[in-house]
Amino acid sequence: MPIFLDSGNAREIERFLKMGIVRGVTTNPSILLKDGVTGGMKIVKQRSVEIAKLIAPYPLSVEVTTNEPKAMLEQARELAGWAENIVVKIPIHGPNGELDNLELVHELEGKHNVRINVTAMMSAQQCFLAALAGATYVSLFGGRVNNMGYNAGQEIMKLRSVLDQFDLEAKIIVGSTREVLNIIEWLEAGAHFVTVIPNLLEGMLVHPYSKETVQQFLADAARAEKMGGQ
Ligand code: E4P
Repeated sequence: MPIFLDSGNAREIERFLKMGIVRGVTTNPSILLKDGVTGGMKIVKQRSVEIAKLIAPYPLSVEVTTNEPKAMLEQARELAGWAENIVVKIPIHGPNGELDNLELVHELEGKHNVRINVTAMMSAQQCFLAALAGATYVSLFGGRVNNMGYNAGQEIMKLRSVLDQFDLEAKIIVGSTREVLNIIEWLEAGAHFVTVIPNLLEGMLVHPYSKETVQQFLADAARAEKMGGQ
């Protein structure tokens, strides 16, 4: 099932989970901040454990909050220990292009049995390297790619094609949704998953003409009932 929810709000997640349309959740420090998760790692742990439990066995991505390699390795192992279905997000490189992160991804996946989602990627090339390093998920930020003037759909097509060509097991998550249309277009382009912000999922579901049609059916049902039997 191809839809993840990009949210740190447990009630919101539960609503879509109950509909049966969501098969995973992704967070990052900005999403958690927006959803009121403030006060440090103790609170991040509380919310993450709550969401992980709610959606189990589906995966919950939680991102590391440090850029220091040794601390990142330790933190990644700690986050993964919070629940069996937690996947650890590690950015493709540091804030100034530091190259330590893929080595950590390789080590965490290979030696420590930690599932990694490599994040903050803007091109098929970055995602391909993350897949070669052994990442379980590679996250392309589709909306940011489009906003830079490149075509996210084309990056997804190229990426899916090389992953399949070389039998790489990494799954493509496309995030950074900006428009309702992104979801179906990016899945059609070859994403394994699109992680969607909740209001776009609502926009995908509700159609004005469906509303009008349902209103008509309900009104006619009421009218028919008032008219009585023959
Ligand atoms: C998903 O995993 C990403 O963290 C998220 O979709 C990024 O979205 P943004 O570009 O709106 O920050």
